[in-house]
Amino acid sequence: MAPRSAPSSRHSVAPADQELAGRLALVTGAGRGIGEAVVRALVARGCRVLATDAAPEGVDALAREYEGSVVARTLDVTDAAAVEALVADAEDTLGALDIAVNVAGILRCSPVTELTDEDWRATFAVNTDGVFHVSRSVAGRMADRGAGSIVTVASNAAGIPRTTMAAYAASKAASVMFTKCLGLELAPRGVRCNTVSPGSTLTDMQRGMWPAGEAHDDGPAARRVIAGDLASYRTGIPLGRIAEPADIAEAVAFLVSDRARHITLHDLYVDGGATLRA
Ligand SMILES: NC(=O)c1ccc[n+]([C@@H]2O[C@H](COP(=O)([O-])OP(=O)(O)OC[C@H]3O[C@@H](n4cnc5c(N)ncnc54)[C@H](O)[C@@H]3O)[C@@H](O)[C@H]2O)c1
Repeated sequence: MAPRSAPSSRHSVAPADQELAGRLALVTGAGRGIGEAVVRALVARGCRVLATDAAPEGVDALAREYEGSVVARTLDVTDAAAVEALVADAEDTLGALDIAVNVAGILRCSPVTELTDEDWRATFAVNTDGVFHVSRSVAGRMADRGAGSIVTVASNAAGIPRTTMAAYAASKAASVMFTKCLGLELAPRGVRCNTVSPGSTLTDMQRGMWPAGEAHDDGPAARRVIAGDLASYRTGIPLGRIAEPADIAEAVAFLVSDRARHITLHDLYVDGGATLRA
């Protein structure tokens, strides 16, 4: 019998603990919640991170905690000129961006009949325009180098109708399709573009939907999210728990790594089965 050949280096991947060593990532909405968890997951894999957020406190704290690995900048993703200036400055001073993760997002819940113009525009300005601004700025630079990975954190609401979430769901669906089209344009130039679509995740955004007095993580509001609510056409979460931010960050860390080198235009649902992927 012929001896088994040693695995070719073509098929080897770096150990997960340092698999992003030498890479530089831009993360938006990094000051708390899922964005903060993404920063932690990337740093744990050896990545340097430019952590940005419209509010300075959270990203400044991350830069202090991870001195040498995390640089903090205030960035409002709705401001296209500020995004382009930050990306240009980062490439000059920190180096080439290998990874960009669009996490910044807002949620304003309202029935459509009561939704204001301002709610609609603000939702799209962050969740859709912001993804466009950041992705456009990094995409050309990555494509010129023939390598890069962009992940947009969308929502499972992009794929299933939800009451009181029309603006949010539509803005997220737009960001998913935008990211897929970008991925198609950039695939021949070595840049992968994917989306992660979380379900209910234990962050301030999620707790903000719960009635006052029920906003603790194992209280009645949380239990209703898990059990489902037929009155609002929600089937609940089959895995029986609400996600922690780290659950979403793990999916992002995988998609930006070389372990996902043949994955692009993908929308990875991390929702415990809540949408039944139907
Ligand atoms: N928490 C959930 O249940 C859930 C579910 C599905 C999708 N998501 C999505 O995940 C992402 C992160 O959500 P989260 O739960 O961590 O929310 P969060 O509200 O806890 O954090 C959002 C962060 O984005 C920042 N941000 C808001 N507007 C910004 C702007 N214009 N520019 C830059 N930063 C801005 C905020 O300052 C904040 O730090 C969002 O895109 C959200 O839509 C969250």
